[in-house]
Amino acid sequence: MSNETLSVIDNRTGKSYELPIADGTVRAIDLRQIKTSDDDFGLMTYDPAFTNTAACKSAITYIDGDRGILRYRGYPIEELADRASFLEVSYLLSEGELPTQAQLAKWTHDIQYHTYVHTNIIKFLEGFRYDAHPMGMLLGVVGALSTFYPDAKNVHDPENRYIQRVRLMAKIPTLAAFVFRQTRGLPFEFPRNDLDYIGNYVNMTFSIGGQHKPNPVLQRALEILLILHADHEQNCSTSAVRGVGSSGVDPFSAISAGIAALYGPLHGGANEAVLRMLDEIGEKKNIPAFIERVKAGEGRLMGFGHRVYKSYDPRAKLIKRVADEVFAETGLNPKLEIAVELERIALSDEYFIKRKLYPNVDFYSGLIYQAMGYPTDYFTVLFAMGRMPGWLAQWEEMVTDGEQKIARPRQVFTGLEARPFLPIEQRK
Ligand code: CMC
Repeated sequence: MSNETLSVIDNRTGKSYELPIADGTVRAIDLRQIKTSDDDFGLMTYDPAFTNTAACKSAITYIDGDRGILRYRGYPIEELADRASFLEVSYLLSEGELPTQAQLAKWTHDIQYHTYVHTNIIKFLEGFRYDAHPMGMLLGVVGALSTFYPDAKNVHDPENRYIQRVRLMAKIPTLAAFVFRQTRGLPFEFPRNDLDYIGNYVNMTFSIGGQHKPNPVLQRALEILLILHADHEQNCSTSAVRGVGSSGVDPFSAISAGIAALYGPLHGGANEAVLRMLDEIGEKKNIPAFIERVKAGEGRLMGFGHRVYKSYDPRAKLIKRVADEVFAETGLNPKLEIAVELERIALSDEYFIKRKLYPNVDFYSGLIYQAMGYPTDYFTVLFAMGRMPGWLAQWEEMVTDGEQKIARPRQVFTGLEARPFLPIEQRK
């Protein structure tokens, strides 16, 4: 055996084992042979929240959390944000290479011709209560789409998977815009195939009576934000998409589960939570007291910290630049001053330094979305639209990975041993 192994001595039995190491990992299943007796189940690993467990092999996104590096298929996020379109990036994520002109033309055409959603979707949207949260609506209607495309369950047919990927990419802006209109009580604006991906979405969102003057600076800023959100390897929502998708369910249902995961305040919902936090702080003079409360464990500094990044989130760096461009167009968001000061104080405070807590992608994005005219509870819908290509690429990779099976973690049972049923009159 080569020295790419791990020697393990089980002190309970004195037996030693040699476990192969590959790609910096040992296989958890190799531990199963470590037993104290023949009827022992064998050793497992215990890893709540998967802080040190690789659940898949992936060639899509690379993150180096210590050095603040993020790459999609090898391309640095900074170059993609500077030079690519969102559709190019979405093609790159799914297909593995940047598209040629012909490939991009086909991808764009395919997406443009699937932007409409069945009009019954409007009935679902109209059925929501007047104050329904946009993310609740979005995950509902994306899940509902599975019933309009029963063919989507043919997940082992590559051509079929392609068409579902196209459908999801094409329909998410329409659904996101419809959700926006529903929350505002505005009539729905239908897709226009003469507009590009971002232009069409913005038009469906903001056009009143067919009138909308696009602002190219704001549209490119939105496109960059979508690119920055497009994938982030095995985060909570992507793991949800992979986990749910591993049951063989159609991608609409799996992606709907991803949207549900993204909704949470510790994940995509943080962009909304940041704005609420800035509102709560209200004024710069209240920042020190707020920081003290966070340090005392009374709530978190939203938009700070990351499971993987232990240095400045490279997306947050790029977003700060986008913020400058957007605010030059829209005028300064008064909350920016509070955010900048909050960041300054936090980055020089021992509590945050020691724990390596830096601003993440959500710290400044909400301020930009607000300046663009989106309401606070809508921000995470924009994150979902950006993350769609990542979810789809990861789903495709999972489906075609011969090593994957239905996801099914183990547990450490901590409950009671078997006991006899107790008739109700004997229960205390
Ligand atoms: N404010 C204050 N303390 C924090 C924060 C924060 N934002 N984040 C982590 N900590 C502390 C935490 O209390 C713990 O301290 P101690 O060691 O004394 O118990 C330590 O830092 C480690 O935290 P953790 O909870 O073990 O870290 P995690 O990797 O499980 O959590 C996180 C990562 C992103 C959920 C967390 O940092 C957090 O809650 N941040 C605020 C929410 C947020 O901004 N989420 C968006 C993440 S980026 C976008 C995305 O991908 O969704």
